[in-house]
Amino acid sequence: MSGLTIENVSMRFDLPNGTSVQALKDVSLDIKEGELMSVLGPSGCGKTTLLNILAGFLAPTEGRITLNGHPVKGPDAERGMVFQQGALFEWMNVRDNVSFGPRMAGKRERDWGANVDHLLDVVGLRDFKEKAVYELSGGMQQRVALARCLANDPDVILMDEPLGALDALTREKMQGLVLRLWKETGKTIILITHSVEEALLLGERLLVMAPRPGRIHEEYRLPFADEGVGRDLREVKKNPEFGQKREEILGMIWNMEEEIMGRTEAAQ
Ligand SMILES: Nc1ncnc2c1ncn2[C@@H]1O[C@H](COP(=O)(O)OP(=O)(O)OP(=O)(O)O)[C@@H](O)[C@H]1O
Ligand SMILES: [Mg+2]
Repeated sequence: MSGLTIENVSMRFDLPNGTSVQALKDVSLDIKEGELMSVLGPSGCGKTTLLNILAGFLAPTEGRITLNGHPVKGPDAERGMVFQQGALFEWMNVRDNVSFGPRMAGKRERDWGANVDHLLDVVGLRDFKEKAVYELSGGMQQRVALARCLANDPDVILMDEPLGALDALTREKMQGLVLRLWKETGKTIILITHSVEEALLLGERLLVMAPRPGRIHEEYRLPFADEGVGRDLREVKKNPEFGQKREEILGMIWNMEEEIMGRTEAAQ
């Protein structure tokens, strides 16, 4: 059985003051091998919690996760994570960062060298191999993070706001790179974003989550990721259907935020 299965997953955090937060409630989802899924939702709806459970950093209070038929019990190189920023090893150069996984797995350079150099080519950092992390721009650092994740050859790539800290132009270029990598590698990718446009562009499947308790609110199947591979993403955004979906989802999230604000004000 291939793919990632999320079965009735709930997550409750018990707080020291005796109260608890229901971060996720009864989330079920089947993600096929090679699927590109984006996840949107208001702050606090459990997106990061879900990703941390998929990564194996957190164990759910209820439910279970299986990848290719076996249960997910903890972190494993089969599931790679790309964080928003700052997760590189500052004291290592670019090539050492990218080759970290295979080196930690005890592999020799003759086994990983060519692949690491290929990945550095793919993300456009061939000439920056020997540079220190602090010498790189934010966009370059995120490309190193992507290459480092790919060097482990994971089945699933989990990304939590990977492009959130980038300027608009760099972000657009990186969106193109994510699409290209998705098509070229056939990896399953789950990407969290706060940007509705990004979720539309980078999700053949788009999940909208709702808060309190965190749950799946709506799901879309979209053509834009496929259309965007190797194309100018600004052209894809001109598609009238893209504009329609953007307005629909913006309205949906806006209403959720309003409801949260209303509840917060009422509580004060
Ligand atoms: N370790 C923790 N202990 C207690 N509560 C937590 C913990 N992690 C998350 N929560 C709570 O669970 C809920 C979901 O948090 P989560 O970080 O998953 O949201 P999110 O959707 O990623 O939000 P954002 O968009 O702001 O990143 C929130 O109410 C948060 O306060
Ligand atoms: Mg988060």
